[in-house]
Amino acid sequence: MASAILSLTSASIATSRPLIENLKVNSKLGSSSQTTFLGKDYIKTKVIGSWHLTSMTVAVEVSRFNDITMAPPDPILGVSEAFKADDHEMKLNLGVGAYRTEDLQPYVLNVVKKAENLMLEREITKRNWVSAAFAAALIERYFPGSKVLISSPTWGNHKNIFNDAGVPWSEYRYYDPKTVGLDFDGMIADIKAAPEGTFVLLHGCAHNPTGIDPTPEQWERIADVIQEKSHIPFFDVAYQGFASGSLDKDASSVRLFAARGMELLIAQSYSKNLGLYAERIGAINVVCSTSEVAKGKEQYHGSSVPEELCAEKEFVAKHGSTCLVKPVSLQVKSQLKRIARPMYSNPPIHGARIVANVVGNSDLFNEWKEEMELMAGRIMSVRKKLYDSLSAKDNSGKDWSFILKQIGMFSFTGLNKAQTENMTSKWHVYMTKDGRISLAGLSSAKCEYLADAIIDSFHNVS
Ligand code: LMR
Repeated sequence: MASAILSLTSASIATSRPLIENLKVNSKLGSSSQTTFLGKDYIKTKVIGSWHLTSMTVAVEVSRFNDITMAPPDPILGVSEAFKADDHEMKLNLGVGAYRTEDLQPYVLNVVKKAENLMLEREITKRNWVSAAFAAALIERYFPGSKVLISSPTWGNHKNIFNDAGVPWSEYRYYDPKTVGLDFDGMIADIKAAPEGTFVLLHGCAHNPTGIDPTPEQWERIADVIQEKSHIPFFDVAYQGFASGSLDKDASSVRLFAARGMELLIAQSYSKNLGLYAERIGAINVVCSTSEVAKGKEQYHGSSVPEELCAEKEFVAKHGSTCLVKPVSLQVKSQLKRIARPMYSNPPIHGARIVANVVGNSDLFNEWKEEMELMAGRIMSVRKKLYDSLSAKDNSGKDWSFILKQIGMFSFTGLNKAQTENMTSKWHVYMTKDGRISLAGLSSAKCEYLADAIIDSFHNVS
């Protein structure tokens, strides 16, 4: 085991408070030859006059970090680590929801390359600026005692986010294993039963991990119940564009709620739809009700109207340049900034600039829409091919059509833990233990192989 040699006179010791505390205790004991440190014989203390001179070499054989146990592998990212360690030629990583090309390579969108070139041309300096953990921190701080209702199942990281923020959560029914579809009645009943003012986490589109979304009519009903109960909708929009291939269509659930004038939290990610995974670029949007604006907490007159407000044309049109009110949205924004500051001080700007260049330039924006259709189209085509292969190979009469009804990057296969383990140990197909496969990690060429693996695991493992 590694051991560290520490010397009392070394400046480096000052960085270790527990060690100093221990040494003080030893000094105060004042014994002429004290030899105890963390249960081992490491320190020799001599008393000379009123001074305790400690000449010592401390070899820390038992680390102070010893009690920190091994964290379990992440249910999603851990799958990729296991995949990397496998050298089988047919191996397939269907664990993480990250877009891959037909050659199963990561895809850098053309619009991203163009946006980066534009940034280089304009020599934009790297400056720094903000996503779901924020919303959790905001809830914890300003809605103490409030609960978040999350779907069962949901993205593996949602529970961690709320646990770490100290925000209590419980689940609403979502997936019905009998139909491999949406348990709509269960979902509505659980949202209704939650105490008023509960935050209801909804997946804006392409539900992760099930790939099952409510219909437009069902979204209306969900909005009705949330409104009736004065709940606060909290959208997680991580796959915009991947459900239908259209960024606009995939925004329809959020827009439906916004059009009703409801206050919303929207956590949005560009990791998947712009392939900016490692840039960790997203946005937290808090839509505040305009009727809540006139709190009169601060007064702005003429030139003292903050620049941010002047830029908001709607605000100025409504209140004039001499305004006596401060919008709640600015208060919220100021608090979000405050939450961000101790978390990471200055967030990286590079990804944010790429997004701003793509959405802010009509040519690039239109090209993004085309690339989005292309990526979503490739996933739809392997989904169809997988269904065809399963239907052609499986003679048991099992209905695999749920695969076609699911949308987005994922398919929830209904395989149980033992069956998913068989997929990996026997077939080298890596997937999450809940039975989810990411179709973005599948190529047409490997559909038949995957179908064989699924049929074997489904019928031969219980
Ligand atoms: C997934 O669910 O696979 C993606 O959202 C990637 C991730 O970070 O979990």
